Amino acid sequence: MQNLRVVLAMAAAVLLSLAAVSDAHNITKIFAKHPEFSTFNHYLTLTHLAPEINNRLTITVLAIDNAAMSDILSKHPSIYTIKNILSLHILLDYFGAKKLHQITNGTALSATMFQATGSAPGSTGFVNITDQRGGKVGFAPEDNDGTFPSHFVKSVQEIPYNISVIQISHALPSAAAEAPTPGPAELNITGIMSAHGCKAFADTLLASEAFATYEENLAGGLTVFCPLDDAFKAFLPKFKNLTKAGKVSLLEYHGVPVYQSKAMLKSNNGVMNTLATDGANKYDFTVQNDGEQVTLRTKAETARITGTLIDEQPVAIHTIDKVLKPRELFKAEAETPAPAPAPEEAADAPKPAKKKSKKAAPSPDEADAPSPDGDPADQTADENGAGGFDGRRFGGLVGLVVSAWLGFSLL
Ligand SMILES: *[C@@H]1O[C@H](CO)[C@@H](O)[C@H](O)[C@H]1NC(C)=O
Ligand SMILES: *[C@@H]1O[C@H](CO)[C@@H](O)[C@H](O)[C@H]1NC(C)=O
Ligand SMILES: *[C@@H]1O[C@H](CO)[C@@H](O)[C@H](O)[C@H]1NC(C)=O
Ligand SMILES: *[C@@H]1O[C@H](CO)[C@@H](O)[C@H](O)[C@H]1NC(C)=O
Ligand SMILES: *[C@@H]1O[C@H](CO)[C@@H](O)[C@H](O)[C@H]1NC(C)=O
Ligand SMILES: *[C@@H]1O[C@H](CO)[C@@H](O)[C@H](O)[C@H]1NC(C)=O
Repeated sequence: MQNLRVVLAMAAAVLLSLAAVSDAHNITKIFAKHPEFSTFNHYLTLTHLAPEINNRLTITVLAIDNAAMSDILSKHPSIYTIKNILSLHILLDYFGAKKLHQITNGTALSATMFQATGSAPGSTGFVNITDQRGGKVGFAPEDNDGTFPSHFVKSVQEIPYNISVIQISHALPSAAAEAPTPGPAELNITGIMSAHGCKAFADTLLASEAFATYEENLAGGLTVFCPLDDAFKAFLPKFKNLTKAGKVSLLEYHGVPVYQSKAMLKSNNGVMNTLATDGANKYDFTVQNDGEQVTLRTKAETARITGTLIDEQPVAIHTIDKVLKPRELFKAEAETPAPAPAPEEAADAPKPAKKKSKKAAPSPDEADAPSPDGDPADQTADENGAGGFDGRRFGGLVGLVVSAWLGFSLL
């Protein structure tokens, strides 16, 4: 019986996801009406967690008021650490006030956005919710000593099974989330790319003076769009044909000097400058949503983002299924119209049929295949974050499995 209810609830969640549109809610706007959460709201924006929240369905935000935020800020954490702490306060499941008081057996674990980023070691990205005596609902990190440092205060705004914003009394303490995060300068971006399907691009980059440009931008903000190996290997003959300066420009064209998470790209469509952009040589491309897909368009090519290898502000690395060809270097190809983008319906289908290659472009799952669960590559959970059941395969499925295991009733 319990299992049946869980299955029905999962089916309902799938239907709800399919019915909904991507930017259905706006967390910034929700908090704008509640000045007691202005600091929390401010940091959701600064850490770029706001678009992550807006892009997800079935989410719960555990808000803490300005006084509780001051406690966090008094320790002068870096913005990256603040992001981890706040991520632990975003549950990848829906807990309205009513459901909090109806948890099966009075206790539940929920996966959080901290878990979904892959930065959370072990089970530190889970939150324990326990309905205590006297109707008090306690919140604690999963690994707790039986005491609950925070409890439910009030419901701020609820859109059933869509977004719930509730106030809790104190920030959830977590040594893992509060730990100083490694500086971006310590990130080995070519190592990360090599290990996750972009080895050909990473090796080429390492051997080029373009690599220095990437390194210079690491601290201030950098987004890399790395072509997957099949695409880059197929492109190598053309690459070798470029002049020395052309090779550097082509490589720099795959980097953007600002941090752009997948959710940010989704909500900021438009022209984007690259590391190769230099005065008259524009070397830009256009970011455009195609259904739930994010595409990068040049005059000669339309590439799709197939996954995210790392998303740790200020650095994000996304994989793409084609090499980006700037019109400055590929004039002839730019003159023939770019291949028509896949129709909207195809973008929603799990495996869009690829006309060109027999070996279809890797699906998000394939792009992730080499990475074990808990790896930063799991960030691709965001891939179809708003698109449906598939998109929450990593973070969400953990949540659903935990939900199913605990057998709590969504109905
Ligand atoms: C979620 O909320 C948004 C706006 O508040 C609404 O447009 C959308 O239909 C809701 N989705 C569901 C599944 O209720
Ligand atoms: C959300 O609301 C804020 C404040 O009302 C507004 O500035 C922002 O542009 C909105 N964001 C989106 C994605 O609509
Ligand atoms: C939540 O924590 C309490 C107190 O440590 C514990 O008794 C309970 O089993 C935990 N719940 C889950 C689902 O792990
Ligand atoms: C980066 O990673 C690659 C591959 O794992 C490794 O060969 C290289 O030595 C690393 N570079 C640094 C600076 O650690
Ligand atoms: C290399 O450049 C030459 C001269 O522009 C051109 O004829 C040839 O097709 C190019 N080869 C490739 C693989 O693009
Ligand atoms: C809930 O409690 C019932 C009865 O004590 C037990 O049989 C069941 O296994 C519990 N469920 C979970 C998920 O702990």
